[in-house]
Amino acid sequence: MRGYWKRFAELVIGFADKYRFDPFLRAQVNTIGLQAVFAVLILVVVGISFTYLYKEITLTLIQKIRENILLGTGAGDPEIILHELESIKTKNLTVITGSIVFMTVIFGYIIGRITLSPARNALKSQKQFIGNIAHELRTPLSIVKTNTEVTLLDDTIDPKIKHVLKSNVEELNRASEIINNLLSFNSFIRPEQVKFENVDLGKIIESVVHDLLPLADRKHIEIVMRRASRRGDYSTVWGNPTALDQIVRNLLKNSINYTPHDGSIHITTEPYDNLHVRLSVEDTGIGIARKDLFRIFEPFYRVDRSRSREHGGGSGLGLAIVSELVKLHHGKIVMRSTPGRGTNAIVLLHAGEHPAVEDPRRKDDLGFNEVSVDFSARKGAQKNMSVVQGNLL
Ligand SMILES: Nc1ncnc2c1ncn2[C@@H]1O[C@H](COP(=O)(O)OP(=O)(O)OP(=O)(O)O)[C@@H](O)[C@H]1O
Ligand SMILES: [Mg+2]
Repeated sequence: MRGYWKRFAELVIGFADKYRFDPFLRAQVNTIGLQAVFAVLILVVVGISFTYLYKEITLTLIQKIRENILLGTGAGDPEIILHELESIKTKNLTVITGSIVFMTVIFGYIIGRITLSPARNALKSQKQFIGNIAHELRTPLSIVKTNTEVTLLDDTIDPKIKHVLKSNVEELNRASEIINNLLSFNSFIRPEQVKFENVDLGKIIESVVHDLLPLADRKHIEIVMRRASRRGDYSTVWGNPTALDQIVRNLLKNSINYTPHDGSIHITTEPYDNLHVRLSVEDTGIGIARKDLFRIFEPFYRVDRSRSREHGGGSGLGLAIVSELVKLHHGKIVMRSTPGRGTNAIVLLHAGEHPAVEDPRRKDDLGFNEVSVDFSARKGAQKNMSVVQGNLL
């Protein structure tokens, strides 16, 4: 008997440990527990309500019987009594249904919040972990890259080895791009450390285009920049220059990667309204299918791994980082795509140099995150679709 107790105690302790350390088990147990509490509460409400209904109907019946038969007052015919009982029943059932619906909504919200919180915390620690790892990897990676580049300067090296070293530098550049993207995770968890200032988005676009032009030239892709300035300068935004550079870089790189030879890319900045600037990166590329458009903002999501590699894409982090950075700026990102025709990424940001614009991080209470899909386009292969994500301006 003692053996059974011991095993039972071990099972309980094991479960308690798992509950403490496994956020998903915690979420599951919390859901089951809260659902049970909810079911008991509903049963109590239904029980009390039906007891009350039963009492009211019985009392009304007794009163009518007394009036009609015992006291002989002739208070009404059975039809009228039945009608009165019916209205009591309807009134009570309406109240019961209303309370159940109300309780379901409130409990649904509470259950959602409580049970999702372990998963939310786990996601946060995951981001922190990724950020820390990226930070640790950055230094050795840059040392290896510098050493390789210095070795390449030596003209006495065998051309075959030189070729290998050159391709190593290319791969190291790709790795450091991924590391930079991963490092952004830190800014999502510590947004208070990100400095905001007036930034000339036009200048950032120019510098990114300058960096990526060789890549576009290799595929004969034309890049057209347009800066609308109806009344004064409309490309100054309120944000963090590094983050904005990363947003533009990732979007433009995607457009170059996923646009076939001889295509074109248009980058535009223009006023959206008095307080916001609209950045648009539009390409004539392969586009994104509807089923994938839902998921492109997920970290590590690539439409097709082989397609991604073949087009020069990487880890599937680019758009996840872009959407997080847009959120950090309390902006909004919309992706529109027509498979076979092209993709248009639109980012709305707070304009700079406007006294009315405060630090966007203080606007937390006003904004809300939105992820939605626009199904307004007609059916057919050439349909336009869009996914919206970010804080509504
Ligand atoms: N302009 C675009 N045209 C067509 N497909 C796109 C475009 N932008 C993104 N995609 C698709 O969305 C997926 C996710 O894009 P994302 O930038 O997050 O990852 P990636 O480009 O594969 O890798 P990374 O950006 O980390 O190097 C890509 O794999 C690609 O298939
Ligand atoms: Mg990308």
